[in-house]
Amino acid sequence: MKTIALGSAGVALASYSGPKTTSNAGSLSEPNSNAIQQLRAFRGEHQPRALPFDPAKLKGLSEKLIRSHHENNYTGAVKALNAVEQRLDAMMKDKDLPAYVYGDLKREELVRTGSVILHEYYFANLGGDGRAAGSVLDLIKQWFGSYEQWEAEFKRTANALGGGSGWAILAYNSHTNELHNYWAWDHMHNAPMSRPLLVLDMYEHSYHMDYGAAAAKYVDAFMQNVKWEEVNRRAEESIKQK
Ligand SMILES: [Fe+2]
Repeated sequence: MKTIALGSAGVALASYSGPKTTSNAGSLSEPNSNAIQQLRAFRGEHQPRALPFDPAKLKGLSEKLIRSHHENNYTGAVKALNAVEQRLDAMMKDKDLPAYVYGDLKREELVRTGSVILHEYYFANLGGDGRAAGSVLDLIKQWFGSYEQWEAEFKRTANALGGGSGWAILAYNSHTNELHNYWAWDHMHNAPMSRPLLVLDMYEHSYHMDYGAAAAKYVDAFMQNVKWEEVNRRAEESIKQK
């Protein structure tokens, strides 16, 4: 049995069959033998993306709200994801760790990953003039009859999450080849094989500073700022990959 010290937590390894390259994970009683490499998947080096628009120029959404959302909630999620990955890396070296303890952190990995990705989609589909055009508009008409009927269903889906948490997501599903507005109660809800085209954050932190509990007013303001060029780009990519 080899004993390795891992930061503050020393653990005993009986027989670990994973990667065998030395890492900076800690000191070894037998240098360069059976040392455990830090897993690439658990590097924890995600970097927050800058806001892709001028937050002072949105209609009906204040700069203070957008900056707070980006700096606190989104950037916080990136930092949390990095921390979770690094903890997972450390846990991989603990052979005696109970599976249920590992499971708690795997859940956090999914929560934080969903939060980071959906926030990046959300900010990237803001900063436009709110006028739908292009292939995505054709798709919308195909599946919802008209833009107005689609928008009514999208808003209804979003407003159903008002006062709580979650995301309203217009998505192209590459398994069913259908367009849907999906309801997501949290960062982990996502219909399998669905590619988000338009993402709307319905967590209270995304509107409470400007609208209090009036979530529907925030949804109306969001629609005025949708960058449909980006939504269309995502739609065209999804169609190409059919
Ligand atoms: Fe958010």
